[in-house]
Amino acid sequence: MDSAKLTLDPAFEVGPVGKRLFGSFVEHMGRCVYTGVFEPGHPRAGEDGLRRDVIELTREMGVTAVRYPGGNFVSNYEWEDGVGPASERPTRLDLAWRQIETNAFGLDEFMTWLREVDAEPVMAVNLGTRGVKEARDLVEYANFPGGTRWSDLRIKHGVPEPYGIRVWCLGNEMDGPWQIGGKTADEYGRLAYEAAKAMRRVDPGLELVACGSSNMRIPTFGSWEATVLEHCYDQVDYISAHSYYDPVGGGRADFLASAVEMEQQIEGVIATADHVAAKLGSRKRLKVSFDEWNVWSQSLFGGEGSLDWEHAPRIIEEEYDVAGAAVVGSLLITLLNHADRVGIACQAQLANVIAPIRTEPGGPAWRQTIFHPFALTAAHARGRILRVQATAPAMPTERYGEVPVLATAATLDEDRLAVFAVNRGDRPLPVEIDLRGLPRATDLSHVTVADDDTGARNTEREPRRVEPRAAGGAKIDGDRLTAVLPPVSFNLLRARLS
Ligand code: AHR
Repeated sequence: MDSAKLTLDPAFEVGPVGKRLFGSFVEHMGRCVYTGVFEPGHPRAGEDGLRRDVIELTREMGVTAVRYPGGNFVSNYEWEDGVGPASERPTRLDLAWRQIETNAFGLDEFMTWLREVDAEPVMAVNLGTRGVKEARDLVEYANFPGGTRWSDLRIKHGVPEPYGIRVWCLGNEMDGPWQIGGKTADEYGRLAYEAAKAMRRVDPGLELVACGSSNMRIPTFGSWEATVLEHCYDQVDYISAHSYYDPVGGGRADFLASAVEMEQQIEGVIATADHVAAKLGSRKRLKVSFDEWNVWSQSLFGGEGSLDWEHAPRIIEEEYDVAGAAVVGSLLITLLNHADRVGIACQAQLANVIAPIRTEPGGPAWRQTIFHPFALTAAHARGRILRVQATAPAMPTERYGEVPVLATAATLDEDRLAVFAVNRGDRPLPVEIDLRGLPRATDLSHVTVADDDTGARNTEREPRRVEPRAAGGAKIDGDRLTAVLPPVSFNLLRARLS
């Protein structure tokens, strides 16, 4: 078989497209904040120091939620340092990335930026060097209307209305030996329970995320989640998952098939959470917050020890190619196909640090290749996600065995059908889409992110080298759609149904 066949039936669906699936992540790391989203004095920055060019690109990307302020950074962070008059804020050592943190940007600047971007916050608290008290104080500062120590401080800082932040991460990657103030699963599970309890007393409307494993290859994957959740299951709504897919750490076919690993991880985390529910006799079901995911050549990173005390250094400024864009597209497809149990997903990170948006200090901002599959999916994945029945040729991989060359998801929003498809293979892939049970299609379009050179990138000198382009040849043939997907490409097929 050298072609693929998809069958779509409106009776079979995964569920609605969750509004938090197109999240991103802003960490105080490298140049994500400083000279990324925030650069006072930049020609495109306002009085508030926020770069309008980055705000515009973030809106264009369709980012719906943003996790902040870390990441490993949060585990040594004192949120009080980042609020109040800028001239009074202390400069601190950030132990996570061996950086000098000026605290010129903090919670209030982040929330101002977020309003401009029109996205929801996913706020992380420090459960590394800090604990219950500081977490509940921060909820009081952010969410309590007024008349108390911390809420009045927010008002004094010029923010009369509470922020009403709903989603909170209880720490970050607390299983990681690299984490400042890392914990055993028992220690963290107890702390997460107590922090959650206190935070909910301040604001009962919170949605809380417990830390799952920091990746699926860590030896404690599975047992960490089980132990942590046995302590705090009743107090949390989500369990987190993180993963980065490395283009240089293994074979090319393994990299192109990275979404297989994301799927295994999601299914493993859900199975573990449901196992704990069964043990506790709980009918409540948790969702996964996949709140760090992306492509990252992590095997080339020398680790924290290779960094020196600098402010806003250029670290892990990954340049993405077309193959990276195809993998990002396939990861988004995997998240869509698991949206019944994945409630939040945040691509890590937003600007400069393993990011879809790159900037130069005092200079331009541009879209990396991976910007495009994200923006196309966020814009067109609407309504209900259909369960796609697909058959496709397989390709051999070392890590995952035989893997279909095609990754695909479909959404239906009233009369608008969108099919997202990645061809992982090195040859053009003809696809036929059987619209059984759906009304007749009209106005078919096919947009692709592809290039004859799958190593092509966007750079400051050539920022538009890789862009989505119309692909010729897509056809409607009765109740079938046909198209050819270029080698190693992300594709969006859209049609109107009448
Ligand atoms: O996104 C970069 C880092 O990767 C984050 O700080 C950490 O949570 C993860 O290990």
